[in-house]
Amino acid sequence: MLKPIRSVAVGAAAAVLLVSAFTLSSASAATEDSGRRGGKGHSAAPQTLGTLGQKAGLRIGTAVNATALAEDAPYRAKVAGEFSSVTAENAMKWEAVEPQRGTYDWAAADELVDFAKKNRQLVRGHTLVWHSQLPAWLNNGDFTAEELREILHQHITDQVTHFKGKIWQWDVVNEAFNEDGTLRDSIWLRKLGPGYIADAFRWAHEADPRARLFINDYNIEGVNAKSTALHELVTGLREQRVPVHGVGIQGHLGVQYSAPHDIADNMLRFDRLGLETAITEADVRIPMPADSTELEAQAEGYGVLLRGCLLTPGCNDFTVWGFTDTYSWVPDTFPGQGAANIFDADYAPKPAYSTLRQTLALAAGRH
Ligand code: G3I
Repeated sequence: MLKPIRSVAVGAAAAVLLVSAFTLSSASAATEDSGRRGGKGHSAAPQTLGTLGQKAGLRIGTAVNATALAEDAPYRAKVAGEFSSVTAENAMKWEAVEPQRGTYDWAAADELVDFAKKNRQLVRGHTLVWHSQLPAWLNNGDFTAEELREILHQHITDQVTHFKGKIWQWDVVNEAFNEDGTLRDSIWLRKLGPGYIADAFRWAHEADPRARLFINDYNIEGVNAKSTALHELVTGLREQRVPVHGVGIQGHLGVQYSAPHDIADNMLRFDRLGLETAITEADVRIPMPADSTELEAQAEGYGVLLRGCLLTPGCNDFTVWGFTDTYSWVPDTFPGQGAANIFDADYAPKPAYSTLRQTLALAAGRH
């Protein structure tokens, strides 16, 4: 398993990144694909995001669309070839794995776990406790608090046990906060109170003591009311010895908004608590149609997220939420916006792809 191995030297390299990554971002990715400079007749294998990430001390992952993985050969090849970790985009969510109470369907999730093993990729498990994508029997059921608590306990135990030893990091609790830092009004908070969060981590830890357990959210890239509330929550959880090991920062950005330039300040305060961190769902959407200036701004958005991770010693994974515009959640959720990924719909790399490659190469001490 890849550990957070970045050293002091990387700190220096990362400082360089702050000033140089943007200037380099428009150079072609093909430069690095030709292998090392200066080696006559040298035929080094092309550097992928995964191999560059390994040299920089972190995994580079993607969310995986289960249907595309099964049916789209170029998609499958890209997932296998480019990335060193994977996350199920939907296949491990509650509605997917337990459509009827007590009846599990692990097929799509197992496919991905097997695929990852074959390709020596680590798996981020997403997600155990969320307010969204719950099965109808759960949403529509009229359960007492006691029953609901047992349902949650059982689900976490069954799911984490099923994948025991196969999941690197679990997003145990997802999107628990509102923007103002209060806890989100969900079925869990309403019926079980705020203690559901600590319970979920304890139950997951009991089922797989070696999995790294994360709390994950969006709009917590910079220092703001939401990220500060999360910081207070995990501080308290750590004091109570609740087994929370990491904070996942989703990283859903848009070019029309300012980028979170204080991301390292924010991530480092979690690092100081002894927590791991990860960028778990990076993408940067664009009002359509996308022009070249917006594609450059998008590259800078990805660069800001990656640099935040590289500047944080315990940040051990940078995952993009899908890599091709063919399969993206964005147009459905934000009509009129899209092109959020690092490859276009024909798998051609965008400036964002070059920025990620070059930023990783700099962090690895290469030129
Ligand atoms: O499962 C049904 C399927 O039965 C039906 O045939 C099909 C028809 O459209 O819909 C399927 O459900 C879709 C589901 O993805 C699985 O494909 C939903 O309509 C669709 O809304 C759902 O969207 C997912 C979304 O989470 C739901 O909130 C996106 O693919 C997924 O990328 C997105 O991921 C979330 C993360 O989990 C948490 N953070 C935010 C991120 C983006 O919203």
